[in-house]
Amino acid sequence: MAQFGTVFGDYFAIARYADGTWQQPEITRVAPIPLHPAAHVFHYASTCFEGFKAYRWEDGKARIFRLHDHVARMQKSAASLCMPIPDADLLANMVIDVVAKNIQDIPAPPSSLYLRPTLIGTLENIGAAASPSTEAILFVLTSPVDDYFEGGARPLKLLIEDQKARTTEQLGSTKTGGNYAAALGPTLDAKEKYGADQVLFCPGGDVQETGAANFMLISDEEILTKALDTSFLHGMTRDSILRLGENLGYKVSERNFTVDELLEAVTTHEAALSGTAASLAPVGRLVHKGKEISVMDGKPGPNAERLRTALQNIQCGAAPDTHNWLTEVA
Ligand code: COI
Repeated sequence: MAQFGTVFGDYFAIARYADGTWQQPEITRVAPIPLHPAAHVFHYASTCFEGFKAYRWEDGKARIFRLHDHVARMQKSAASLCMPIPDADLLANMVIDVVAKNIQDIPAPPSSLYLRPTLIGTLENIGAAASPSTEAILFVLTSPVDDYFEGGARPLKLLIEDQKARTTEQLGSTKTGGNYAAALGPTLDAKEKYGADQVLFCPGGDVQETGAANFMLISDEEILTKALDTSFLHGMTRDSILRLGENLGYKVSERNFTVDELLEAVTTHEAALSGTAASLAPVGRLVHKGKEISVMDGKPGPNAERLRTALQNIQCGAAPDTHNWLTEVA
């Protein structure tokens, strides 16, 4: 399949916000959106988005994974950026309708249709640096996807960055483009210097997350990941893996831990990145202060594999959805 995110479903859903209200959404063929050059988003970054997936089952129907949780997270992102907050039902129905319209473009599992709701501030006012955009566009784009990281399910290499943060403390849990822009430079540097796939941001030694995914350590008994705070994205895959881990008898430890602890833990724990795009991707090597460190034997470990399979089985209908995470679309 083509590179992640470069091919799109034929149809997208779009709704406009003006005069204090959301207008009726439309579903149309994907096409450029004309915007005034003074649009708030271009100047003051009034934008947030979501990322989640729909799977096509053998019965020909689609299932959207954690739709309502992603809608709620988008509402929080919009609120934190002082943007018009999409109504939950409006956004959920836009997603359902666009999945139904693109259902023929959903590849067979474990591939899926990636869903990208996006909200942008469209107020035409380049003076509005300190006032919110009172006009907005919300759209839901779709993209048939496979693995996010190039090279398939190979173990990833992470550079440990123990000074810089991924983004600011107040926007870490907001899904906004600026956070990805902030991580881009360090990630490109790490790729060039060390061949690293991602940077694990650990400001002041506090292990947070990478540019594109959450981070976790997994042993035969325990899953360890940072406790929720505003400094990092509250990943739905992170949450799902923790819930499934509990069901499978792992001790789930959500607590802060340091780079020193991490470096000690990788002799007994596997490491993995969790995210909608990443799924649960194994980490094989870390680079710290110029030195390469192997995570366990450097190969994908059985615990991450077990948890990823448990998640994918629910997403693809091979295991019951006991958590009610799926929304059916006919
Ligand atoms: C996701 O996992 O859905 C994301 O939004 C990450 C992005 C880098 C593709």
